[in-house]
Amino acid sequence: MNKSKNKIMPSKQFLKVPKYISGEHAIEGQASITKLSANENLNGPSEKIKNIYNSLQDSLFEYPESDHLSLRQAISDVYNIDKEKIFCGAGSDEIIQLLCRCYSQVGDEVIYTEHGFLMYKISAIAAGAKPVKADENNRVASVDNILARVSKTTRIVFLANPNNPTGTMIGLDEIKRLRKKLCPNILLVLDGAYAEYIENYDGGLKLADEFHNIFITRTFSKIYGLGGLRVGWGYGSQDIVNVLNTVRSPFNISSVGLKLAEISILDKKFVEKQRRLNRENRDSLRKKLLALGLEVDLSYANFLLLRFSERQQLLKADNFLKKNGLIARRVESYGLPNALRLTIATGEICNRVHSLLKELLGK
Ligand SMILES: Cc1ncc(COP(=O)(O)O)c(C=O)c1O
Repeated sequence: MNKSKNKIMPSKQFLKVPKYISGEHAIEGQASITKLSANENLNGPSEKIKNIYNSLQDSLFEYPESDHLSLRQAISDVYNIDKEKIFCGAGSDEIIQLLCRCYSQVGDEVIYTEHGFLMYKISAIAAGAKPVKADENNRVASVDNILARVSKTTRIVFLANPNNPTGTMIGLDEIKRLRKKLCPNILLVLDGAYAEYIENYDGGLKLADEFHNIFITRTFSKIYGLGGLRVGWGYGSQDIVNVLNTVRSPFNISSVGLKLAEISILDKKFVEKQRRLNRENRDSLRKKLLALGLEVDLSYANFLLLRFSERQQLLKADNFLKKNGLIARRVESYGLPNALRLTIATGEICNRVHSLLKELLGK
């Protein structure tokens, strides 16, 4: 009997899906570590959020709101956008997956940028589509290179702005140029996971009102300090939102996640404070690292990408930081074998990163 005939096999495209490897979160034999590998907000959420979290115990037996209305209303109030065009997902990861599942299939192509967030490629393959890489210019997305990769079968273009792991971004005028040159039947997804870190930047929400074929994704995992809750949201045409709502599971976000995300987004002062702290710590650390002779691009997000001249030096730095309890993120899988990504934490931790690297580099 042919044994493989009896084997339970997944659909063909799932055999080719590369696994997303997240940043390390522990060091063997070391009890006290600081994780700088996942771009979380190490300050965590506000005291108000922690108190509300404690008060939610009595309602844990209830299913969450299936239509996410309270959270959508809060997002709509904060950004002055149409609540019917808001979609909520279990992190923006889920939204990226759903977009690929709903808008691409076998025979289609999905464009992502050279050092773009890995979930675009993974989600495209899982949908059966072919991921197509568009080169960047010195780690900055290039509209012309994206346009050059468009074919008759392109269905989606993903662009993280700012991008992870580079921290770089392009202006909304460039994005508008991209949108105008793309065929109208190609969906342009603007990933704004780090948009809140930039002052006076709406992440493209207004563009999504102007163009029915732009979809924005956002998250509560970064500036809001709620990565553990898995809540994200998207904004775009009602047609797209309707499709995503039909395909998602009915209770995709927990009641705790929905409630805390709703309260968080209304707390504009908290966001402003986190933005300011991040900018101060990030820009001061970058200056000091540049003075050590490291190459560090201007970052618009809550992390820095440190580039070393040789791989050996990168490995040394990574190990040295680890030995001292700091976990950075290696980014070989993003096509950056000599770089290390570091989340911006408190001023104290940033100072520690600087003094350790200074010691290592003998400066
Ligand atoms: C650019 C970008 N998009 C999306 C995500 C996914 O975030 P989440 O699923 O936590 O909302 C991340 C996470 O690191 C990211 O860096």
